[in-house]
Amino acid sequence: PVKVTKICCIGAGYVGGPTCAVIALKCPDITVTIVDLNKARVDAWNSEDFDLPIYEPGLEDVVRQCRGRNLFFSTDVDKGILEADLIFVSVNTPTKKSGVGAGFAADLNYVELATRRIAAIATSSKIVVEKSTVPCRTAESMRTILEANSKPGCRFDILSNPEFLAEGTAITDLFSPDRVLIGSLQTKEGKEACQSLKDVYGHWVPTDRILTVGLWSSELSKLAANAMLAQRISSINALSAICEATGANIDEVANAVGKDSRVGPKFLRASVGFGGSCFQKDILNLVYLSESLHLPEVAAYWRQVVDMNEYQKRRFSKRVVDTLFNTITGKKIAVLGFAFKADTGDTRESAAITLIKNFQAERALVTIYDPQVLQSQIWSDLMEASPGVPLETIKRQVSIANSALEACRDAEAIVIATEWKEFRTIDWADVYTRMTKPAFVFDGRLLVDAEKLREIGFKVTVIGRGERL
Ligand code: NAI
Repeated sequence: PVKVTKICCIGAGYVGGPTCAVIALKCPDITVTIVDLNKARVDAWNSEDFDLPIYEPGLEDVVRQCRGRNLFFSTDVDKGILEADLIFVSVNTPTKKSGVGAGFAADLNYVELATRRIAAIATSSKIVVEKSTVPCRTAESMRTILEANSKPGCRFDILSNPEFLAEGTAITDLFSPDRVLIGSLQTKEGKEACQSLKDVYGHWVPTDRILTVGLWSSELSKLAANAMLAQRISSINALSAICEATGANIDEVANAVGKDSRVGPKFLRASVGFGGSCFQKDILNLVYLSESLHLPEVAAYWRQVVDMNEYQKRRFSKRVVDTLFNTITGKKIAVLGFAFKADTGDTRESAAITLIKNFQAERALVTIYDPQVLQSQIWSDLMEASPGVPLETIKRQVSIANSALEACRDAEAIVIATEWKEFRTIDWADVYTRMTKPAFVFDGRLLVDAEKLREIGFKVTVIGRGERL
């Protein structure tokens, strides 16, 4: 097998950045260059004061240790390709917005463009690693493109190496992954390429955690893993609706169910709904795949996981309106948290966006606070959620605060949309004095101590908890 000494990663995003920074840290003998067409993003990775383009606990420390040593960020995609012996393709694969499969299928345009660039530029053999999440059999298309466009004497071996990191815990996930999955063709060359990548991870990941499988299993495993994770959330959220209607408590139910070692305790937390760039996209992708394979029952099964998530967000918004005496028109609502989950600044598919849109539709006045999300990001997300509505119009109803306390001033209701740790230590007694009475709290993340808040005087509504306590 080829001994990898130079790695190029195409795509300096949430996956490419942290993944390849950790490879650089753990493999001082390998030079890692992360390239991206987005100059602003690359500049941020290179910024002198380490004002990195993504927020991820522990990431800055890793970049500080390696940047300029064996980790480089650049917009020179071609140079990165030319010099590397192994190339990660870590570009975005969003849901298609138009054309065949719109709303379901993955948009593979970025993967294809990156692949074509590799074929056009490479003057020596490369191992090309599909890191982006892609539909089953994409590696085949990549191989066809590469082989049809390669120069004489250039071999391309394709591997699938999906990324299982979770945003918010990316660095600890990368330091000690549950598993690393590498898919390859089961030919001599395919297995050798697989060994080369295995040796890279072997610098810090125990061998028994590196799984080597066929290409198609590897691709499908990533979709399957996300589908099953999201399915757990939708299952617990479906049960939270029953809890609210009966007076059962979803925390107690989740705990009792999770104690069964076959089920396990993790990822059973009821919430206002999952968000993030992956779960919905990857499930819809799986739905599309199932339909293309003429498996409509399978498609319908997975589809329901996304439908349940939409229902949960609708249901929660409605509960807010119902509780506030069936109208929130002109009422001030503080939304705490805008990121799709804690410890990230990422807002893609965040449940908060849907909630706020629903509150806007009811003509409420919304004030948002999030400790990490940039104001510019909030405005652009809200504009995208209401196409055609000018920002000035949105700003008549929505404002952004610099602290939780400021957001809650004069509010009639507080909605907790993201489980940021700092929301646990809010001085609720102080908040209470600043609010319009009766003061309502809607906990969409099982974050607050409802009893304590009730003692202060709040009217508290918690997801998955009935009124008949
Ligand atoms: P991202 O959007 O943050 O980053 C992708 C980057 O690729 C962008 O900066 C874009 O400018 C760049 N890019 C696109 N085409 C390019 C080209 N031809 N040449 C150079 N640069 C190019 O996306 P993110 O979140 O990093 O996701 C990447 C892939 O990883 C997706 O397929 C996603 O499904 C998958 N994934 C994401 C996870 C996450 O937590 N965000 C976790 C696991 C997988």
